[in-house]
Amino acid sequence: MSEKSLSKSQADALVTKDSKHVLRPWSGGAPVTIVHAEGSTVTDVHGKEYLDFTSGYFVNQAGHCHPRIIEAAVSQMGRVMQVSGKQATPASINLAERLVEITPRPLAKTFFATGGSEAIEFAIKMARQHKSSETLAYLDNAYHGLTLGALELCASEKYRQSGGATLSDRTYQIPNPYCYRCKYADNCATQCLDEAEERLDEHTDTAAVVAETVQSVGGIIPPDAWWKRLDEMRRERGLLLILDEIQTGLGRTGAMFAAEHYGLEPDILTAGKGLSGGVGSLSVVLASDEVVDGFYGGTTPTNAGNAVSAAAGLALIDTLIDERLIENSAHMGRYFTEVVADLDDPWVGDIRFKGLLGGVELVADRHSKEVLPRELVSRIADALQEDGMLLTVSGPYGNVLRLQPPLCITAEQLDTFAASLGGTLESVRRTAG
Ligand SMILES: Cc1ncc(COP(=O)(O)O)c(C=O)c1O
Repeated sequence: MSEKSLSKSQADALVTKDSKHVLRPWSGGAPVTIVHAEGSTVTDVHGKEYLDFTSGYFVNQAGHCHPRIIEAAVSQMGRVMQVSGKQATPASINLAERLVEITPRPLAKTFFATGGSEAIEFAIKMARQHKSSETLAYLDNAYHGLTLGALELCASEKYRQSGGATLSDRTYQIPNPYCYRCKYADNCATQCLDEAEERLDEHTDTAAVVAETVQSVGGIIPPDAWWKRLDEMRRERGLLLILDEIQTGLGRTGAMFAAEHYGLEPDILTAGKGLSGGVGSLSVVLASDEVVDGFYGGTTPTNAGNAVSAAAGLALIDTLIDERLIENSAHMGRYFTEVVADLDDPWVGDIRFKGLLGGVELVADRHSKEVLPRELVSRIADALQEDGMLLTVSGPYGNVLRLQPPLCITAEQLDTFAASLGGTLESVRRTAG
């Protein structure tokens, strides 16, 4: 038995307790119960190792259990951990200042919350109060969180229905640039925006456009020309831009924030996920002085701005910079594209990475782009997991292997994944009939 694992009876007892007492939002295979995690690798109760292409749900940007983050958190724990939202700690003040320094446009005010969805709720409140209008535009395929306000900005009807958030007339969708499956014959860089423009013109009371800079659900990466024109359109109409960088921020796309790739200067920006360095849960809304002038928050999340999470977040930002992990993200994203393309597998339809955000879209036929049936996609994901690759399945059609490892992933680890993917696709195809 490895020292990282438990005895068989201990492991089995834990797995049984989990299925008895823990409720998860999705049905599907049994969870992997992890007892140890380091860098890009996690170890389960049985001592089996996996390469983690989920980064703990896109959180552990610098790798699992980074020593510098542990040290910052432990040292903070001996001083102060949690204070009321009315008070401050040096850690939360210093993190606020650091965040203002690293955002694409100096957004002078930070508002801390405890999760991405909460941050979105506050971003919505800020925009609505500032513009005295409730109407918001969001993109096809968007995901902005699980709370009722955020669900009104989610494209998935299934998600909305789960919370009783019906299609409201105060939010509306505009087309997103899903270029691999572009519905327009030509000029695809911006043609979808003609339709967006019409929608914006139908809703003259729009307060803001809310968008992920790069859409995380399946990695929908807008062309430069698309963002340029959408940004011009919203400026011409005096609309605020709320960028949701909860998943794209903190180096994930090969820039500190994905807005930098497109030269965007949002009025409000949200970040979360990895912001706590994996220590507790921390999110933030950054906004300009002008937008928050007179803002009334109403109430505050109880654990917002936890000092231990803030200290860990500061250590995370320093680590991203000092260890050049943002550069590694950009470089490994390109390398990942190459090694998967080299497989030249007939089921690999599209490989989309912006840094280490994105994945591989699977198709039954490369020419027609017919979506690979879900049953086969699930078999592929299960076989990859069996082979020691932790990943999730995503995308508008549920056929994208979402591959977002910690930003410290190495070329050798990506080679290991590519070899596993190549073998898995072949063996599933052989038995698919
Ligand atoms: C783009 C984006 N916005 C918002 C959220 C919601 O964040 P949280 O789950 O921390 O509430 C997520 C979570 O996946 C996300 O990816």
